[in-house]
Amino acid sequence: MDLGLRDRACVVTGASGGIGRATAVALAGEGASVLLVGRRSEVLKEVCRGCSRAGGRAEPLAVDVTAVDAGERVLEACLERFGRIDALVNGAGTSAVRSLKQLTDAEWQAQWDLHVMAPMRLMRAAAPVMAERGWGRIVNVCSSSGKRPSSTNMAYSVTKAAELSLSRAFADLFAGQGVLVNSVSPGPVGGELWLAEGGLAEQQAQARGVSREEVLESTAARQPLGRLGTDEEIAAVIVFLCSEAASNVAGASWSVDGGAVPVII
Ligand SMILES: NC(=O)c1ccc[n+]([C@@H]2O[C@H](COP(=O)([O-])OP(=O)(O)OC[C@H]3O[C@@H](n4cnc5c(N)ncnc54)[C@H](OP(=O)(O)O)[C@@H]3O)[C@@H](O)[C@H]2O)c1
Repeated sequence: MDLGLRDRACVVTGASGGIGRATAVALAGEGASVLLVGRRSEVLKEVCRGCSRAGGRAEPLAVDVTAVDAGERVLEACLERFGRIDALVNGAGTSAVRSLKQLTDAEWQAQWDLHVMAPMRLMRAAAPVMAERGWGRIVNVCSSSGKRPSSTNMAYSVTKAAELSLSRAFADLFAGQGVLVNSVSPGPVGGELWLAEGGLAEQQAQARGVSREEVLESTAARQPLGRLGTDEEIAAVIVFLCSEAASNVAGASWSVDGGAVPVII
């Protein structure tokens, strides 16, 4: 299927991490030009090479998306390098294992800044520019725990729920102008966030007094598919939502969680 992404100019935040990197490479594989946003410039350069090998063009942009002017800076860079902006994937985000007692006010605020203010500022800058040309795609990477709160980190769940609401609000505002805003809600993914040294699996093991392997086994067993997802499985849905083929999808939040959240709407 031709996804109609050839020569589209796409921004992916969180492109130095698992889901963002897989998304950027998959977009490049469709012939898109991709602006890779994250803070680690060396990793972004490496992802650039992966995008080139996949057949697309990519440029790195080291920006902290929680900066108040990040929306304007990212938009400017995309217009300067590619001459247009067609798609925006808000993938930057993170979590850590914290009980309610451990969560400080500063951590609540940081989660809000990263999962709500950053995508809001990026959409506020990019959506009107897409609307001028009557075509655009925005995908916000939310989480299954935004749909069903998890006790792993209440601030993460609550801010991901807010990001789902933010996506829907922007979808309502811009759908009539050809800018389709959607979100995806991944369940646990077997990528860096969970598996890296000191990642979520290790943190949960420490908090629960069990082994890292036990955490991974019990997490997999809780999913109807019986396993964690992969970065590429999440990316495949994001890329579809960025595509011409998703021309009748707006305001949706697609679960990509192996069936974990038992909702039918
Ligand atoms: N992995 C999962 O199980 C899972 C499940 C549900 C939802 N999600 C969501 O999926 C998204 C991607 O997660 P992932 O698994 O790919 O995590 P990851 O591998 O840890 O990558 C996180 C990405 O976010 C970027 N980032 C974080 N803070 C940033 C900031 N202030 N400014 C710019 N970039 C920032 C990181 O880049 P730098 O470090 O270079 O800044 C990195 O590229 C997140 O929103 C996450 O909440 C993940």
